[in-house]
Amino acid sequence: MDIANCKIGIIGGGNMGRAIIKGLCTASSKAEITVWDADESCCKRLKEDLKIKVAQNNRELAADADIIILAVKPQIVTPVVNEIADLLSARKLLISIAAGIPCRQLEKALAQEVPTVRIMPNTPALINRGVSAIAAGRSAGKEHLALARAIFSSLGETVIVPESSMDMVTAVSGSGPAYVFLVIEALLDAAVGIGMNRDLARTLVLETVAGSTELVKQTGKQPMELKDMVTSPGGTTIAGLAELEKNGLRHAFNEAIKSACQRSKELGK
Ligand SMILES: NC(=O)c1ccc[n+]([C@@H]2O[C@H](COP(=O)([O-])OP(=O)(O)OC[C@H]3O[C@@H](n4cnc5c(N)ncnc54)[C@H](OP(=O)(O)O)[C@@H]3O)[C@@H](O)[C@H]2O)c1
Repeated sequence: MDIANCKIGIIGGGNMGRAIIKGLCTASSKAEITVWDADESCCKRLKEDLKIKVAQNNRELAADADIIILAVKPQIVTPVVNEIADLLSARKLLISIAAGIPCRQLEKALAQEVPTVRIMPNTPALINRGVSAIAAGRSAGKEHLALARAIFSSLGETVIVPESSMDMVTAVSGSGPAYVFLVIEALLDAAVGIGMNRDLARTLVLETVAGSTELVKQTGKQPMELKDMVTSPGGTTIAGLAELEKNGLRHAFNEAIKSACQRSKELGK
């Protein structure tokens, strides 16, 4: 199977489904894309905005597509797989992006061996700056991982991981954008707190966060090394950093990631 001439069917055209479709359209892939969503107005918008085909229902989509992507909420995944199971085969590929749903849960609901891949994207995928972790199910091979990678690379970076890492991935990059948004919000409020106008604070904070990330990436240096470069003895930065450490920022992140990972494990049971 080759991405350029395969049919991709997306079940669920919400936030993530739409991002995947947009990514595929902008990557000018030749793949034929079809969507179906339980919400009629969502299908209409996707058809109008992105000029893609809308199926009549999940079964029509699954019968026609070579690759089926499940982009519905986790609690809807098993009912949808039950609905389309008899239309899937070893020649198709089933991809799920549902948080906390292991491949074995999909495989259990399937009538026969179907290559299954689980993916954890994140919301910056909406602007093609996401990172997606990709894990193979029992009967998915290298060629299936390559296909999944080709599709999700249109949404940003991709990494291949063993499925056993997915709870950690969920805690770090799946939930990660929310932690970063909280940090940005806290920095903005703190700037306003010392008397800065909010528009100026927004420009300074956003450019500082984006530029610092890019500096770590482009220099390949450790964050600690870059931090040391801006920390002069007795200066302003060390005074600010000392407060963050005293108030337990590092501990808070450790606990947040552990807790999110634990919650992901519980949801997968
Ligand atoms: N958003 C994230 O940051 C993120 C990150 C990683 C993974 N994910 C995973 O991505 C999946 C989708 O999340 P989302 O944020 O895109 O959700 P969403 O915006 O709610 O989109 C899901 C869509 O599926 C539709 N739907 C419900 N039942 C359906 C059915 N039986 N057949 C076809 N479509 C159906 C929903 O319609 P109604 O609204 O009418 O129910 C909705 O339009 C979830 O499993 C989530 O765990 C999300």
